[in-house]
Amino acid sequence: MLSLGLQKISGKEVIPLVDGGKGISVSTGETCGAWAAEGGVGTFSAVNADSYDENGNVIPQIYHGKTREERRRELIEYAVAGGITQAKIARERSNGKGRIHMNALWEMGGSREIIEKILEGAKNCVHGVVCGAGMPYELAEIAVKYRVHYYPIVSSARAFSALFRRSFKKVKELLGGVVYEDPWLAGGHNGVSNADDPSKPQNPYLRLVALRSVMNEFGLQMIPIIIAGGVWWLSEWEDYIDNKELGLVGFQFGTRTILTKECPVAEHWHDKLMSLKKGDVKLTQLSPTGFYSSAVNNEMMADLLARLERQVKIEEFSSLKVTAGRREVCLDPSRRVDIERWANEGYSEAMLTPDNTVVFVTPEQSKQILEDQRNCFCCLSACKFSSWCQHNGSTGKIPDPRTFCIQKNLQNIAHGGDVEKNLMFAGHLAYRFAQDPFYANGFIPTVHQLFDRILMGC
Ligand SMILES: Cc1cc2nc3c(=O)[nH]c(=O)nc-3n(C[C@H](O)[C@H](O)[C@H](O)COP(=O)(O)O)c2cc1C
Ligand code: SF4
Repeated sequence: MLSLGLQKISGKEVIPLVDGGKGISVSTGETCGAWAAEGGVGTFSAVNADSYDENGNVIPQIYHGKTREERRRELIEYAVAGGITQAKIARERSNGKGRIHMNALWEMGGSREIIEKILEGAKNCVHGVVCGAGMPYELAEIAVKYRVHYYPIVSSARAFSALFRRSFKKVKELLGGVVYEDPWLAGGHNGVSNADDPSKPQNPYLRLVALRSVMNEFGLQMIPIIIAGGVWWLSEWEDYIDNKELGLVGFQFGTRTILTKECPVAEHWHDKLMSLKKGDVKLTQLSPTGFYSSAVNNEMMADLLARLERQVKIEEFSSLKVTAGRREVCLDPSRRVDIERWANEGYSEAMLTPDNTVVFVTPEQSKQILEDQRNCFCCLSACKFSSWCQHNGSTGKIPDPRTFCIQKNLQNIAHGGDVEKNLMFAGHLAYRFAQDPFYANGFIPTVHQLFDRILMGC
């Protein structure tokens, strides 16, 4: 048994083990409450969370609005109702133990309104708000207004320094902790910055020391760093515990907690996790947010990566002309053979991208892409796939067929959809399910069993 000790998190002494928030509807009130009930910190996702009807069935989020603005309002209403529902379930399930945190993506559409309305509607249920994917400068203001603790997710000392200097320094007393998410290892969206090489992972220890040193400069010696991304057995992190250079630390699990009885994902998601091999999870820039993200290289991802290969630059003049949408464009003639081969394979439709290129897709894919773009209900503050932007309605760029509707995909997979045809976020150590004796013979633990196991160090 490792002696992690207790730490004051969001105003209470708890075991500093965190179940990280996972949208959409992977981290729920049930998973969050179960984790908190063990004396740790549970997190429910407030990213378009589910609500239920009187029989306990998930209410499908169907959009009736004719304009994007109307659908955006519907989305916000669904998100607020879902968040309040999950917060209340989490409180009840936790039996008053541990802490309950709410996770939101800063760059989700209407993020501030959604977070505030959930905090208003679920008073005394939420102890902390955790926010990543972007620079959540306004998080501190929200925390003061609702008297909750706040937890930025960062992947570098530099990002935290910018957040603190510009905003958090005004509300030091409610900063509950800083989540350090390893940009090369964590599941979901990743904070790989321009200064990082996505193909060259860096030593987390050195980055954590840099973060702690910046935090100490700001007088945040007593604020814990929650280490996330690539945490499997705590015995592998012994050097990080009771380490003077790092100070107070806790650990966050994302991928590991999906494989628990309480997590509502379908059985085939669990099966897929157990079957993964090293290298099956890829870090790409396919997300319509523009952020890097880590997900399983399933059929859907393989198709998007292949789409990038079927890409040809538009030239000002050339003998090779194709029709893309309503435009005739000239392409590099040296690609003629490739283009003919793709057409023979069924990839006969050229679609324009915002980077002065075209990509070749099948007629069915082209139809689906255009339909998904038309149906956009504005779940992001800015979306490369549909060009939606919440500030003025459009990013000003043409919609990008090299990416996809992440909302549709994540909703699908969370509600029983195919794990090959939808985006399946996962951390890079997911292959360890297949190797870890804890999961032998397809064993799926309860949250209680997993929590105990993690405390054992392995
Ligand atoms: C399926 C899945 C969905 C996720 N969704 C979110 C999310 O909505 N917001 C967020 O801040 N982090 C999200 N994450 C990141 C986790 O909260 C956690 O920090 C990360 O998975 C830790 O890395 P690990 O997977 O190596 O344990 C997600 C991770 C996974 C695997
Ligand atoms: S197209 Fe983009 S903004 Fe619109 S719903 Fe899909 S992911 Fe969200």
